[in-house]
Amino acid sequence: MAYQTLIVEIEEYVALIRLNRPEALNALNSVLLGELADALKAADANEKVRCIVLTGSDKAFAAGADIKEMSEKSFVDMFTQQFFATEAESILRTRKPIIAAVAGYALGGGCELAMMCDFIICAENAKFGQPEINLGVVAGIGGTQRLTRFVGKSKSMDMHLTGRFMDAAEAERSGLVSRVVPLAKLIPEAMGAAQKIAAKSMLSTMIVKECVNRAYETTLAEGVAFERNSFYALFATEDQKEGMAAFLEKREPQFRDK
Ligand code: CAA
Repeated sequence: MAYQTLIVEIEEYVALIRLNRPEALNALNSVLLGELADALKAADANEKVRCIVLTGSDKAFAAGADIKEMSEKSFVDMFTQQFFATEAESILRTRKPIIAAVAGYALGGGCELAMMCDFIICAENAKFGQPEINLGVVAGIGGTQRLTRFVGKSKSMDMHLTGRFMDAAEAERSGLVSRVVPLAKLIPEAMGAAQKIAAKSMLSTMIVKECVNRAYETTLAEGVAFERNSFYALFATEDQKEGMAAFLEKREPQFRDK
C-alpha cells in the first residue's frame, strides 16, 4: 500500500518503515500517525513480516508532534478528538517486535514514539528530548511515564523541566537505548538485529514482548507468575521440541511457529 508520509519495504521477513515528512523533520501529524498505525497493523497481519524496524531520516527520527497542526486547537478539540490517543493505542497493540532505529532528533512525540517501540538502537548523532515545556505544555503521548521508567526520576525530571536534549552516549549510559552505532551503520545494525529476531519462533518473540511489557504494568510477584506460566505454556508447542532437539543434535533449529 502507498502512503503519503511513510515508505515501507519488506526484506527477509523484516518490515522497514521509514517516517517520511522531510519538510517538517518527520513531525507527527494525524496523517502520519494514522498511516503508521495502519502500516503496523498490516505488518502484524502479514506472514512475510516477523519483525519491524521503524526509522526516520539521518537528520530526524521525528522532531515531535506537529506544532502547526496543534497550535490553534482548544482543550475541547484535544479532548473530544482524543488527540493521538487512538493512534498510540494501536501502535502499542502491535504483537510483533518493533525496533526503533533513531538518527538525529527524537523529540517530544518523536522520543515518545521511539519509547513505544520494543527497543531503541541509535546513531551517534541522535538527540533525545522532551522539550514540550518550551511550548507551554507537557508531554502528551506517555513521555513523563515512559522516560521516567527508562532513566529514573532525576534525569526524567531534568529532561522534562529544562527541555534539554540528551545525546547518544548519555542515552546509552542511562538505559534509554540498547546500542549506539555510527550513523552509516544504523540501518544495517537494526536490520541485522531484526533478522536475528525474525529467525526465532514467533511464538517466543511475541511472548517475550508480552512478558517484558508486563514488568511495567504489574507487581514483581505477578510479573514473575505471568512469565512462569508463559514459559510452561511454550512446552505445548512444536517449536519448543524443535529448539531443544536442535540444541541436543548440534544443529540450527527450524522453527515453524507451531
Ligand atoms: N512540528 C512542526 N514542524 C516542525 C517541528 C514540529 N515539531 N519540528 C520542526 N519542524 C519544521 C520547522 O518548522 C521547519 O519548517 P519550515 O522550514 O517550514 O520553517 C522544518 O521543520 C525544519 O526545522 P528547523 O528549521 O527548526 O530546523 P533546525 O535544524 O534549525 O532545528 C529542531 C531542529 C531543534 C528539531 C527544531 O526544529 C525544533 O526545536 N523543533 C521542535 C521540537 C519540539 O518542540 N518538539 C515537541 C513538539 S510538542 C509534542 O511533541 C507534544 C507531545 O508530546 C505529544
